[in-house]
Amino acid sequence: TSKPVLFSGMQPSSDSLQLGNYIGALSQWTKMQEDFDAFYCVVNLHAITVPQDPAELVARTRRTAAQYIAAGIDPAKSTLFVQSHVSAHAELAWVLNTLTGFGEAGRMTQFKDKSQRYGADSASVGLFTYPVLMAADILLYQANSVPVGEDQRQHVELTRDLATRFNSRFGDTFVVPEAQIAKGTAKVYDLQLPTAKMSKSAESEAGLIKVLDPANVTKKKIMRAVTDDEGEVRFDRDAKPGVSNLLTIYSVLAERTIDSIVDEYAGRGYGDLKKGLVEVVEGSLAPVRARTEELLADPAELDRLLAQGADRANEVANQTLSLVYERMGL
Ligand code: ADP
Ligand code: NA
Repeated sequence: TSKPVLFSGMQPSSDSLQLGNYIGALSQWTKMQEDFDAFYCVVNLHAITVPQDPAELVARTRRTAAQYIAAGIDPAKSTLFVQSHVSAHAELAWVLNTLTGFGEAGRMTQFKDKSQRYGADSASVGLFTYPVLMAADILLYQANSVPVGEDQRQHVELTRDLATRFNSRFGDTFVVPEAQIAKGTAKVYDLQLPTAKMSKSAESEAGLIKVLDPANVTKKKIMRAVTDDEGEVRFDRDAKPGVSNLLTIYSVLAERTIDSIVDEYAGRGYGDLKKGLVEVVEGSLAPVRARTEELLADPAELDRLLAQGADRANEVANQTLSLVYERMGL
């Protein structure tokens, strides 16, 4: 096809994706699959850079793939696959490791943050070279565009540097990709700590809206969301981060302007706003949850879809890898 190529992925690092993944990634990916030849990957090789329980990892990988499909990724339109099903990812990562400077890798701020969390001595070498594996993910598919959050910008920069370096040393081989940092995409914050982004790796789940949580759990979390003492529904990110976060989520999911929501709840309490939000969130997530459960109830069909995705991914990735090996004299 002549469409530009897009690559993106998420780690199967939790039983359920959180609302920020749904709004910031999956909903965007779903829209982009019309205009791009899109590759959507469940990056389980990235997940093992920190310790994982094997049985749990298998389950989470399948659940993540099912949530991609349930949220609208169409396996007939996009290539949906699991990273470890395509061995070229690990192979190209090794090659790129040999082209990455130790100091260059050491400057990646995400490693510094994560290794602090796990302790310098227990952080793995895999965690250190995580960005190099990510470069391999992207370059294998000759991706033009990589939709990511701001925190991944540095990794896409490294990817561009490695592509350019390889091309100049060994001859034109890789497309140099662009990070597509969604400017208009709302950022969702933790319900209990509304100055921190909602994240599936948050220490407490109390502030997470999880895609696969039952309705009553989500309701409880929203009704207990942190607000403020003012009692007035209005948007002010700095002075009222809690209420502003609720308004943002409402606005994105209901596809309404913040102003119209503020007007509707003027003179009413936060409790009413939260009740309204419970309905809106449930309206968006209930179908995704139901479809995910359907997919998980038919393991053979999910396996078939993932095998089909892996076939197509292998075809493209192996072509790039062969060229790389040939260029390098391997
Ligand atoms: P998590 O912190 O939940 O592990 P990741 O960092 O793996 O999420 O991000 C996966 C994708 O989801 C990225 O594209 C990112 O931009 C998006 N995303 C994650 N959290 C949020 C959030 N709170 N608000 C908006 N988008 C988010
Ligand atoms: Na993460």
